[in-house]
Amino acid sequence: MISEIRLQKVATRLVMAGLFLCVTAPFSEAQSANQAASPSAQSLDFASYRTGVEPIFMKRRADRARCFVCHAGSTNRFRLERLSPGSSTWTEEQSRQNFQIVSQLVVPGNPNTSRLLMHPLAPEAGGDANHNGGRQFETQNDPDWQTLAAWVRGQKGSGTSRP
Ligand code: HEC
Repeated sequence: MISEIRLQKVATRLVMAGLFLCVTAPFSEAQSANQAASPSAQSLDFASYRTGVEPIFMKRRADRARCFVCHAGSTNRFRLERLSPGSSTWTEEQSRQNFQIVSQLVVPGNPNTSRLLMHPLAPEAGGDANHNGGRQFETQNDPDWQTLAAWVRGQKGSGTSRP
Protein backbone atom coordinates (compact mmCIF):
# COMPACT_ATOMS: atom_id res chain seq x y z
CA MET A 1 0.00 0.00 0.00
CA ILE A 2 2.69 2.46 1.07
CA SER A 3 4.94 1.58 -1.83
CA GLU A 4 2.01 2.11 -4.17
CA ILE A 5 1.67 5.66 -2.91
CA ARG A 6 5.39 6.19 -3.32
CA LEU A 7 5.24 4.90 -6.87
CA GLN A 8 2.42 7.27 -7.59
CA LYS A 9 4.48 10.16 -6.25
CA VAL A 10 7.43 9.20 -8.41
CA ALA A 11 5.19 8.90 -11.44
CA THR A 12 3.72 12.33 -10.78
CA ARG A 13 7.17 13.83 -10.52
CA LEU A 14 8.23 12.25 -13.79
CA VAL A 15 5.17 13.64 -15.53
CA MET A 16 5.86 17.07 -14.08
CA ALA A 17 9.49 16.94 -15.21
CA GLY A 18 8.35 15.90 -18.67
CA LEU A 19 5.88 18.76 -18.84
CA PHE A 20 8.56 21.19 -17.72
CA LEU A 21 10.88 20.06 -20.51
CA CYS A 22 8.12 20.32 -23.09
CA VAL A 23 7.36 23.85 -22.05
CA THR A 24 10.93 25.14 -21.75
CA ALA A 25 12.76 23.31 -24.56
CA PRO A 26 11.00 24.97 -27.52
CA PHE A 27 11.38 28.31 -25.78
CA SER A 28 15.15 28.12 -25.44
CA GLU A 29 15.41 26.82 -29.01
CA ALA A 30 13.44 29.78 -30.26
CA GLN A 31 15.63 32.06 -28.21
CA SER A 32 18.90 30.86 -29.70
CA ALA A 33 17.43 30.92 -33.21
CA ASN A 34 16.47 34.50 -32.50
CA GLN A 35 19.96 35.39 -31.39
CA ALA A 36 21.51 33.83 -34.46
CA ALA A 37 19.19 35.75 -36.76
CA SER A 38 19.52 39.09 -35.03
CA PRO A 39 21.37 41.50 -37.33
CA SER A 40 22.80 43.45 -34.40
CA ALA A 41 24.60 40.41 -33.01
CA GLN A 42 26.37 40.11 -36.34
CA SER A 43 27.69 43.65 -36.20
CA LEU A 44 30.17 42.64 -33.48
CA ASP A 45 33.30 41.99 -35.48
CA PHE A 46 35.75 39.33 -34.32
CA ALA A 47 38.78 40.74 -36.16
CA SER A 48 38.48 44.18 -34.56
CA TYR A 49 37.71 42.52 -31.25
CA ARG A 50 40.97 40.61 -31.45
CA THR A 51 43.21 43.48 -32.54
CA GLY A 52 41.51 46.34 -30.69
CA VAL A 53 39.46 45.14 -27.74
CA GLU A 54 41.24 42.11 -26.35
CA PRO A 55 44.62 43.83 -25.84
CA ILE A 56 42.81 46.27 -23.53
CA PHE A 57 42.07 43.39 -21.15
CA MET A 58 45.84 42.75 -20.95
CA LYS A 59 46.90 46.35 -20.60
CA ARG A 60 48.09 47.87 -17.35
CA ARG A 61 46.52 51.27 -16.66
CA ALA A 62 47.78 53.53 -13.92
CA ASP A 63 48.31 51.57 -10.72
CA ARG A 64 45.38 49.24 -11.27
CA ALA A 65 45.45 45.50 -11.81
CA ARG A 66 44.80 44.44 -15.38
CA CYS A 67 41.33 43.14 -16.31
CA PHE A 68 42.57 39.67 -17.12
CA VAL A 69 44.33 39.27 -13.78
CA CYS A 70 40.95 39.22 -12.04
CA HIS A 71 38.75 38.09 -14.88
CA ALA A 72 40.60 35.07 -16.29
CA GLY A 73 38.64 32.11 -14.93
CA SER A 74 36.51 34.44 -12.78
CA THR A 75 33.09 33.42 -11.53
CA ASN A 76 31.20 36.49 -12.71
CA ARG A 77 29.84 36.92 -16.23
CA PHE A 78 33.02 38.55 -17.53
CA ARG A 79 35.01 35.33 -17.51
CA LEU A 80 38.05 35.34 -19.78
CA GLU A 81 39.99 32.23 -20.70
CA ARG A 82 43.07 31.51 -18.60
CA LEU A 83 46.34 31.83 -20.50
CA SER A 84 48.10 28.60 -21.33
CA PRO A 85 51.28 28.10 -19.29
CA GLY A 86 54.20 30.05 -20.73
CA SER A 87 52.13 32.16 -23.08
CA SER A 88 51.49 35.87 -22.69
CA THR A 89 48.42 36.06 -24.89
CA TRP A 90 45.37 34.06 -25.94
CA THR A 91 45.34 31.60 -28.82
CA GLU A 92 42.81 32.27 -31.56
CA GLU A 93 40.57 29.55 -30.15
CA GLN A 94 40.70 31.11 -26.68
CA SER A 95 40.01 34.52 -28.21
CA ARG A 96 36.91 33.15 -29.90
CA GLN A 97 35.75 31.82 -26.57
CA ASN A 98 36.39 35.22 -24.95
CA PHE A 99 34.57 36.90 -27.84
CA GLN A 100 31.46 34.82 -27.11
CA ILE A 101 31.52 35.80 -23.45
CA VAL A 102 32.28 39.46 -24.03
CA SER A 103 29.58 39.72 -26.72
CA GLN A 104 27.00 38.82 -24.07
CA LEU A 105 28.06 41.86 -22.05
CA VAL A 106 27.46 44.48 -24.71
CA VAL A 107 24.44 45.88 -26.50
CA PRO A 108 25.53 46.21 -30.15
CA GLY A 109 25.23 49.82 -31.28
CA ASN A 110 24.89 51.14 -27.75
CA PRO A 111 28.03 51.55 -25.62
CA ASN A 112 26.18 53.45 -22.88
CA THR A 113 23.98 50.50 -22.00
CA SER A 114 26.77 47.94 -22.38
CA ARG A 115 27.81 46.38 -19.09
CA LEU A 116 31.36 45.78 -20.31
CA LEU A 117 31.78 49.55 -20.70
CA MET A 118 29.67 50.91 -17.87
CA HIS A 119 30.73 48.59 -15.07
CA PRO A 120 34.44 49.54 -14.97
CA LEU A 121 33.72 53.23 -15.73
CA ALA A 122 33.91 55.86 -12.95
CA PRO A 123 30.41 56.69 -11.61
CA GLU A 124 30.97 60.43 -12.24
CA ALA A 125 31.44 59.59 -15.91
CA GLY A 126 28.15 57.68 -16.03
CA GLY A 127 29.51 54.32 -14.90
CA ASP A 128 28.04 51.84 -12.43
CA ALA A 129 28.30 52.66 -8.74
CA ASN A 130 30.36 49.63 -7.76
CA HIS A 131 32.97 47.56 -9.51
CA ASN A 132 35.18 45.34 -7.44
CA GLY A 133 38.02 46.00 -9.87
CA GLY A 134 37.79 49.75 -9.31
CA ARG A 135 37.40 52.65 -11.71
CA GLN A 136 39.33 51.38 -14.66
CA PHE A 137 38.24 54.28 -16.87
CA GLU A 138 37.97 57.77 -15.37
CA THR A 139 36.09 59.22 -18.35
CA GLN A 140 34.47 58.15 -21.56
CA ASN A 141 37.28 60.00 -23.35
CA ASP A 142 39.79 57.38 -22.26
CA PRO A 143 41.21 56.10 -25.57
CA ASP A 144 40.68 52.48 -24.54
CA TRP A 145 37.09 53.18 -23.55
CA GLN A 146 36.67 54.83 -26.95
CA THR A 147 38.08 51.72 -28.64
CA LEU A 148 35.55 49.54 -26.79
CA ALA A 149 32.77 51.94 -27.77
CA ALA A 150 33.78 51.95 -31.44
CA TRP A 151 33.73 48.15 -31.47
CA VAL A 152 30.28 48.05 -29.87
CA ARG A 153 29.05 50.57 -32.49
CA GLY A 154 30.34 48.25 -35.20
CA GLN A 155 33.00 50.63 -36.52
CA LYS A 156 35.61 48.49 -38.22
CA GLY A 157 39.34 48.95 -37.76
CA SER A 158 38.64 50.55 -34.41
CA GLY A 159 42.16 51.01 -33.13
CA THR A 160 44.96 48.66 -32.19
CA SER A 161 45.67 49.11 -28.53
CA ARG A 162 48.67 47.09 -27.40
CA PRO A 163 49.66 46.45 -23.79
C1 HEC B 1 41.02 43.70 -8.98
C2 HEC B 1 40.21 42.77 -9.72
C3 HEC B 1 39.49 43.28 -10.96
C4 HEC B 1 40.00 43.98 -12.03
C5 HEC B 1 41.41 44.44 -12.25
C6 HEC B 1 38.90 44.18 -12.94
N1 HEC B 1 37.75 43.63 -12.44
FE1 HEC B 1 35.93 43.62 -13.31
N2 HEC B 1 35.13 42.68 -11.70
C7 HEC B 1 35.86 42.21 -10.62
C8 HEC B 1 34.96 41.51 -9.72
C9 HEC B 1 35.35 40.83 -8.42
C10 HEC B 1 33.67 41.56 -10.30
C11 HEC B 1 32.35 41.00 -9.74
C12 HEC B 1 31.78 41.91 -8.69
C13 HEC B 1 31.43 43.26 -9.26
O1 HEC B 1 30.47 43.34 -10.04
O2 HEC B 1 32.13 44.21 -8.97
C14 HEC B 1 33.82 42.30 -11.54
C15 HEC B 1 32.79 42.54 -12.42
C16 HEC B 1 32.96 43.05 -13.70
C17 HEC B 1 31.92 43.13 -14.70
C18 HEC B 1 30.49 42.65 -14.52
C19 HEC B 1 30.43 41.14 -14.73
C20 HEC B 1 29.03 40.58 -14.51
O3 HEC B 1 28.92 39.49 -13.93
O4 HEC B 1 28.08 41.21 -14.94
C21 HEC B 1 32.46 43.69 -15.82
C22 HEC B 1 31.77 43.95 -17.14
C23 HEC B 1 33.85 43.96 -15.52
N3 HEC B 1 34.13 43.57 -14.21
C24 HEC B 1 34.72 44.53 -16.41
C25 HEC B 1 36.06 44.77 -16.13
C26 HEC B 1 36.98 45.37 -17.08
C27 HEC B 1 36.63 45.75 -18.51
C28 HEC B 1 38.18 45.47 -16.46
C29 HEC B 1 39.46 46.06 -16.98
C30 HEC B 1 39.37 47.33 -17.69
C31 HEC B 1 38.01 44.93 -15.12
N4 HEC B 1 36.72 44.51 -14.95
C32 HEC B 1 39.01 44.83 -14.16
C33 HEC B 1 37.20 42.37 -10.40
C34 HEC B 1 38.07 43.06 -11.23
